[in-house]
Amino acid sequence: MSDILRRGRLSSTPDEDIIRFTSSMSADKWIFEADVLVDMAHTVMLHEQGIIKEKDCTGILKGLSIIREEGIGKLDHSYEDIHISLESRLIDIVGEDTGGRMHSGRSRNDEVATCIRIRLRDELLSLAEELLELQTTLLERAAGNTETLMPGFTHLQHAQPTTFAHHLVAHSDAIGRDIERVIAAFSRVNRCPLGSAAFASTGFDLDRNRTCSLLGFDSLLGNSMDAVSTRDFLIESASAMGNIMVNLSRMAEEIIIWSSTEFSFIELDDMYASTSSIMPQKKNPDSAELVRGKTGTVIGALMSLLSLCKALPLSYNRDLQEATPNMWRAVETTRGAVRITKGMMSGMKVNSDSMAQKSVLGFTTATELADTLVRCAGIPFRTAHQIVGVLARDNEKPTLGRIDAIACSILGEDLSSRGLTDAMIKEALDPVMNISKRDITGGPAPVEVKRGIKARREEIGKVQEILTEMNRDIEDSLKQLFSVVEGYIGNTPDSQVTRG
Ligand code: ARG
Repeated sequence: MSDILRRGRLSSTPDEDIIRFTSSMSADKWIFEADVLVDMAHTVMLHEQGIIKEKDCTGILKGLSIIREEGIGKLDHSYEDIHISLESRLIDIVGEDTGGRMHSGRSRNDEVATCIRIRLRDELLSLAEELLELQTTLLERAAGNTETLMPGFTHLQHAQPTTFAHHLVAHSDAIGRDIERVIAAFSRVNRCPLGSAAFASTGFDLDRNRTCSLLGFDSLLGNSMDAVSTRDFLIESASAMGNIMVNLSRMAEEIIIWSSTEFSFIELDDMYASTSSIMPQKKNPDSAELVRGKTGTVIGALMSLLSLCKALPLSYNRDLQEATPNMWRAVETTRGAVRITKGMMSGMKVNSDSMAQKSVLGFTTATELADTLVRCAGIPFRTAHQIVGVLARDNEKPTLGRIDAIACSILGEDLSSRGLTDAMIKEALDPVMNISKRDITGGPAPVEVKRGIKARREEIGKVQEILTEMNRDIEDSLKQLFSVVEGYIGNTPDSQVTRG
């Protein structure tokens, strides 16, 4: 083959080892479809601006359609990246006099930045949809467990009784914020660098707004140097993913400890479990462990992105090529982890009896007992805290007699004479009563959790509509691009295949 890139300036060719080291072909499989779109939009615009003739435009678009149908497999993988290998294939198909005109007013620098943004925006929208599904599942499980008692923990020590629903809604809210972050990242990803060329734009009279709109971007990146230099949108996206993984890892960790014999709060569906090659009785929560483990992969990708962008002089440097595979690794891992977590959450069996039994172990009602002393006997909370603390220390049954005796030694008077009764103590020690009293906004009382689930479901509906509209905007633009292309070549490429 004749190397269309190197044949002018360079005389020796890289050996296999150098190619393997410098090529981005393997990571570029992510942007093959996007690259064809970018080529099509650029070509259409070049003709509309009178930069290339109609016959060349048509020839190039025909060639690109063939390449798109052939797929990435037909490309020559010995080139250093997808852009040059695609252009070379185009020239093979339509000849250099036509195909050689496509790259006018363009550099691989603005080309690759545009391709990454196109693929990543689709990934972000799919990720947001998957997060919404996880949130929906968490709320569904919560709705079925608003009365399921469980011990709430701080420091992994039994703390206060709560419900499983209250706990699940906590995870759902964290995922809700993750969705906000993904949508915010999208707004900065979906900006178009095309037309910036190497960095100094170009003397060709390009219409940047035209390619921006044909490719479904929201706006242009205003400075051509910034447009090719920045990968901050990758850092921001990977950071949102790092946060998602950290949230998922907390769920995973709980799934792991909850399915231990010591806890036995839940049992995972067998689908998500593995067994041991030696211990035939084992049922291990491997999927959850891998969500926890893969969190490291995504955090690592974020660290790679940050460190390879640090102190890079403007504008394009080849270092930036290393950013892309880290992004793909992060997004693929995160999306997989979201789907697996959803599956584990929806399929797990809840051992409500075991959870309820444990909900009072470790004197979890102690706070409510102290609150009762405050409310019913009018003593300061700090004093009540001390009285109940002594009860807990001595591991004594919290009876009226014992409470009075401790109160006498601390206050010099008992609490019965201040109105405290057996019935009040009994009520304070009842976990169901503990929970039903906590009915202020955000509390675990079933009535409040049910209200919260309803409000969150409405919110999910609204976010779903926003996502649908964002997807529709992109699809409409690409349909427009394809109908323009069809106008030249006479048949419609299938717009569905192009979305990641
Ligand atoms: N493969 C390159 C990347 O991913 C494409 C841009 C190459 N540009 C260049 N000036 N060598 O960054």
